[in-house]
Amino acid sequence: MVWRFSGIPQIHPQIGTEKFPHMNVNGKPTRTIWLHAQNPEIVQIIDQRCLPHSFVVEDLRSVDQVARAIQEMHVRGAGLIGATAGFGMYLAALEAATAPDADASLLRAASLLKGTRPTAVNLAWAVDRMLRAMPASRHPQERISVAKREALMIAEEDAAACQAIGLHGLPLLENLSQLKNGAPLQILTHCNAGWLAFVDFGSATSPIYAAHDRGIPVHVWVDETRPRCQGSKLTAWELGQHGVPHTLIADNTGGHLMQHGQVDLVIVGTDRTTRTGDVANKIGTYLKALAAWDNGIPFYVALPSSSFDWSLRDGLKEIPIEERGSDEVKYAEGLAEGRPVDVLIAPPSSPAANYGFDVTPARLITGFITERGVCRAAETDILGLFPEFRTKK
Ligand code: MRU
Repeated sequence: MVWRFSGIPQIHPQIGTEKFPHMNVNGKPTRTIWLHAQNPEIVQIIDQRCLPHSFVVEDLRSVDQVARAIQEMHVRGAGLIGATAGFGMYLAALEAATAPDADASLLRAASLLKGTRPTAVNLAWAVDRMLRAMPASRHPQERISVAKREALMIAEEDAAACQAIGLHGLPLLENLSQLKNGAPLQILTHCNAGWLAFVDFGSATSPIYAAHDRGIPVHVWVDETRPRCQGSKLTAWELGQHGVPHTLIADNTGGHLMQHGQVDLVIVGTDRTTRTGDVANKIGTYLKALAAWDNGIPFYVALPSSSFDWSLRDGLKEIPIEERGSDEVKYAEGLAEGRPVDVLIAPPSSPAANYGFDVTPARLITGFITERGVCRAAETDILGLFPEFRTKK
């Protein structure tokens, strides 16, 4: 299903319930992933490679298609990668029902999905959770229905956690806004930790939407986030859909704005955070944290607990950093005369390096906004909110 935004939007069926009002596309509640209303053996996603110019809904019918969608970034963002992997394992249960060796087929699917992208911990977290939910002893039909239920639950929990992050972050924004005498609160964000990176609401954007919806004046500086441009293509688009005032900036602008008093706080997301509070996030985040530190600006990381890696203590040494193809750096993608095109922006023979993420050490982070509340970026404080992980290392 494809439509251009100049036309009348189509509504597509959703997996959600009325309990969680969704984010909007052209004023219509929308999530990032759901099961096809007429055929629940098809997973539907928004193909995010096409945004912001067209809204394309893609059908995923097999584990291989799900793996490709994650690897080639039709879907991306930690929470959504996890939810998509959950639905991928549901499709794996369907495929296992006709496979000669059901267990081997499930394990092959799990390892294929886990191998698609290395940094976001939500991926392995969701696949392992799905495997635990459908032990080998189960009858194939029972395994399918258990898998479907678990995948839907992962998606619902992701949306609920992000909504709670918004409510817990709201007082921070309210307090800072009171110091502004009615002027908009200036927030800087990097990459896309919005609803497109999750099932709904987003992590970094959730407190921003909550503040905006309550009439608190906010303005968001959106880092374009080269090379994939999740900021300019996705964050700017979703903030615009929700009517949140924002301005797109080149990646290197944040430090200058901070030095000139034009940023009140930074909120970013994360793809994997250690139990000690080191944060892996989209490449460039560390530089923003350094600039915020130098200028005494609060730097918050918003995350659901599914993005903590409880087994890690040292983010710099232990978090795997994805390296992607050099063409993402050497080419820029855009619209020319209404058609998507790739344009070479570097000497063809120059080598290019493409590190997807960097690690911001806990000491540069003011605090975490989680579904259970706000805490300092320190192991004792994190475990104060999540005591069930005290012994799990
Ligand atoms: O490469 P991506 O787009 O999957 O990167 C993930 C991100 O969008 C960011 O790092 C984001 O800030 C954290 S994911 C909620």
